[in-house]
Amino acid sequence: MSELTQLPAWQRLWDHFADAKQLHMRELFESDPERAERYGLEVGGLFLDYSKNRITDETLQGLMQLAREAGLPERIKSMFKGEKINTTENRAVLHVALRNRTNAPIFVDGEDVMPKVNSVLERMGKFAHAVRSGEWLGYTNQPITDIVNIGIGGSDLGPLMVCSALRPFGHPRMNMHFVSNVDGAQLKETLKKVHSETTLFVVESKTFTTQETLTNALTARDWFLQRARDEKAVAKHFVAVSTNQKAVADFGIDPSNMFEFWDWVGGRYSLWSAIGLPIMLYLGEENFTELLNGAHIMDQHFRNAPFEQNMPVLLAMIGIWYINYFGGGSHVIAPYEQYLHRLPAFIQQLDMESNGKQTRTDGSPVNFETAPIIWGETGINGQHAFFQLLHQGTHISPIDLIASLESRGSLPGHHEILLANVFAQAEAFMRGKTAEEARAELVTQGMKGDALEALVPHKVFAGNRPTNTLLMSFLDPRNLGSLIAAYEHKIFVQGVIWGINSFDQWGVELGKQLAKTIHGELTGKLKAAEHDSSTRRLIQLYRQANKS
Ligand code: F6P
Repeated sequence: MSELTQLPAWQRLWDHFADAKQLHMRELFESDPERAERYGLEVGGLFLDYSKNRITDETLQGLMQLAREAGLPERIKSMFKGEKINTTENRAVLHVALRNRTNAPIFVDGEDVMPKVNSVLERMGKFAHAVRSGEWLGYTNQPITDIVNIGIGGSDLGPLMVCSALRPFGHPRMNMHFVSNVDGAQLKETLKKVHSETTLFVVESKTFTTQETLTNALTARDWFLQRARDEKAVAKHFVAVSTNQKAVADFGIDPSNMFEFWDWVGGRYSLWSAIGLPIMLYLGEENFTELLNGAHIMDQHFRNAPFEQNMPVLLAMIGIWYINYFGGGSHVIAPYEQYLHRLPAFIQQLDMESNGKQTRTDGSPVNFETAPIIWGETGINGQHAFFQLLHQGTHISPIDLIASLESRGSLPGHHEILLANVFAQAEAFMRGKTAEEARAELVTQGMKGDALEALVPHKVFAGNRPTNTLLMSFLDPRNLGSLIAAYEHKIFVQGVIWGINSFDQWGVELGKQLAKTIHGELTGKLKAAEHDSSTRRLIQLYRQANKS
């Protein structure tokens, strides 16, 4: 494996950076009237304007050369071919197979995975149709009105984000609820809103060993049985989605009520699999298929488009430019679309769990930054909260501004205000405000003399702050599918450049192991283990507060 920092393109980019870091985007726009035209790209119903970045043609050429030298073309082929690129778990990485709408065979260990992908999709479709049409009845013969999804991480955030994003497409009878937190408050409050006779619990866990999910599922089952008073009724109200059939059966869910997926689907990449069952229940099979179609459009584009016109590659490599050269370790996701309010949380898991790594695939430590800290909020709310720091703070934090050109069903007069803010923010981040402009503005407001001069430095915005503007024609299943897939591939590309495995998550294990021991100590089932003095004290405080 070639050492990233030894690649000729890596070094050449450092040489270029010495000049490029001095450039101001204002000047880049002034000197090139075609800049927006040249640095814009459309894929399906998604448009990316990447012109408001601190890049030139030379930067882009250097970045694409780096991608080639780091072996990106070969790695893309490996992923789509089903090779076991998740080396630490010896697994293929095939979320692309789940939306492989051409049905061309994809082999894992000599077996074409497409027949089983299609067969699960078909079962999901039939089940979703039965529930939505009212054919599937609860234990008192009433149709289902409420779906409670129990899962966490990838078994929660994907379905939650998509169901929130596509609410206008949801079944009018169906109310969606998502329970992820083992803090009983979430399940308790959810159960207050639903009736046992008309609720379907979908227990989602890739491993079916996740403590939070199993605890919530057991409590939900007890709650249900206290009302139904009939074990047989469970089959009408509990279904499971997992890769672990044995654990599902041990838990007490009939395997005929289980929807399967496979170890080559990563949790955070799983919304396209049976983990998408709540999505299909809410939106219907047709809309779910549209989501897959949208992702497939992006997959094809990613696989075939030259890097210079490849949306995920551009997003990824421009990201590398900031993370590794400018030293910007944070990235903001700002959707200007209320329905996308869970997108920042979803991308946060997708990116940080994938690329939050410090060991390269060959076991050596990295000597450069990897995943940025992903954070965000709906853009318009962010403007009135943390955008101050983004405009005038000391950090460089590129921002993705995401919006829809057309709003279907917004209230009159709202959408144009929203979009005006998107475009204004992108312009403000890029242009900033010079001291001369600030001074002229204060003069027109009637200020003068020392008072005016004292205020000028506070009114200056340096500008030159990078943004990508991602515009959907409108927020529908197809465009959302393309948008999510663009981020998935962006993250894949960055992982390839850094030479890390984006598809394991060993970093979450230590906390889980320690929590098991400490849980035993808190409940008195285990003797006190060796701890540091701080942990001992915290355990003691808990014991004192919960003395019976
Ligand atoms: O602990 C992290 C994690 O394994 C995530 O990667 C995953 O999405 C989540 O927990 C839930 O896991 P499961 O679907 O196996 O319950």
